[in-house]
Amino acid sequence: MRKVITYGTFDLFHKGHYNILKRAKDNGDYLIVGVTGENYDIGRGKLNVHDTLATRIENVKKTGLADEIIVEEYLGQKIGDIIKYDVDAFVIGDDWVGKFDHLSKYCEMIYLERTKGISSTQIRQETFDHYDIGMVCDIADDNGIIDEAKLLSGFEVKNVYFDDKSIADDFFKRFEVENNFDDFDEMLDSSDIIYVHCSVEKRIDYIRHALKAEKHVIYDPPATINPDELKELFEIARKNKVILMENIKMVHIFVFNQLLWMTQGGLIGDILSFNCSISKLDDNRSNLFYDLSTLCLLLMLKIMGQDYLKSDFKVTKSGDDIEFASMYFDYPKGIAVINAGNKIRVNNQLEIIGSEGTIRMFGDWWKCKHFEIHKPGLSDVEVFNTNFEGDGFKYLIKELSRMLATDRINTKAILEEESLKIVEIFNEIDKKE
Ligand code: CTP
Repeated sequence: MRKVITYGTFDLFHKGHYNILKRAKDNGDYLIVGVTGENYDIGRGKLNVHDTLATRIENVKKTGLADEIIVEEYLGQKIGDIIKYDVDAFVIGDDWVGKFDHLSKYCEMIYLERTKGISSTQIRQETFDHYDIGMVCDIADDNGIIDEAKLLSGFEVKNVYFDDKSIADDFFKRFEVENNFDDFDEMLDSSDIIYVHCSVEKRIDYIRHALKAEKHVIYDPPATINPDELKELFEIARKNKVILMENIKMVHIFVFNQLLWMTQGGLIGDILSFNCSISKLDDNRSNLFYDLSTLCLLLMLKIMGQDYLKSDFKVTKSGDDIEFASMYFDYPKGIAVINAGNKIRVNNQLEIIGSEGTIRMFGDWWKCKHFEIHKPGLSDVEVFNTNFEGDGFKYLIKELSRMLATDRINTKAILEEESLKIVEIFNEIDKKE
């Protein structure tokens, strides 16, 4: 019996898929079809897949051509599959010519001509809604959104409005964006989603304005350091049924979910100490302290909860700009300490000590791909790794696309009460002399 194997995502099943399966089957007696798993696709940056794994498997099944369907879950699985299923021939479309030649050591490699004029990408482009993103910038930097949005069908950063006109030349040397608007209202009219990427003190006006114009908004948090203003934004977003989403990429990546699972699920026991530090020197926006601290505070609130007994803050200022702050929170079972430096440098790191283990993340922990768990008495360190490329904007936009597709205006990744609590803390810090 000659066994043939082929792989694919088979999203929005089309006639090109049917043709390749048919020809693969004709190449032997028994056809195994590998359908890519969701995590595998996400890990390799293919985020635009529309159908669920179950639907894609069902569609392959319905052709009646596959004798066996398997899920492709990780890079390198193909070699293992060929050995495991004792495969005689590997069939794939000629868009992959040469890419799998190394497999000819194990079985015959057959590249078949693709069916012309059709692809899942094309169907996605023709079928689904398109969202034009407009950015407000006061720094010649896009935070990664321009390239990462392209990875999701239907999203594109098309428009830009410079809050500070002097950076336009510098910006366009680095990035390609179709339209540069002189007027914010005109940009609003031409955009479906607004990304507010400017210094903290200017954000509230742009966000309020965009929400009132019934546009979805992504913003660098915090929106404001006044809790009443944030509540007002929540209200406008709710009333106008639009999304108001913080640009915190960390909460949309795998490693963060693993970290929450370990800490919230009690896998390192009671949390006795939460200690994290953050600083960034290469960004000149004013009051960057608030941006940086948001990451630390959100993580603390998620892991330690909101019910601390008391808090204290030591703040070093230069004029109105906070250069450094040490934040201290006393919880019933533990202590949290956050050190955030703006102009004053601290080493970025995170350490969470539980009664049954310690978690450590070194360097830029908010975009880290792995963390270590040290268990008391054991010399071995467990390392949790995750597949994650880029700085993560694509994962945030993926969540945004799910919200748009299901008419949700909120994400469970960050709760309103968490955002509000952070702003309340900032409000207290701001009052410190
Ligand atoms: N295929 C084909 N003819 C097409 C489209 C796909 O023969 N017009 C083949 C591919 O070469 C591959 C298999 O079908 O062997 C599964 O491809 P997949 O990547 O799932 O489909 P695409 O339509 O190419 O998807 P995308 O546009 O997302 O890349």
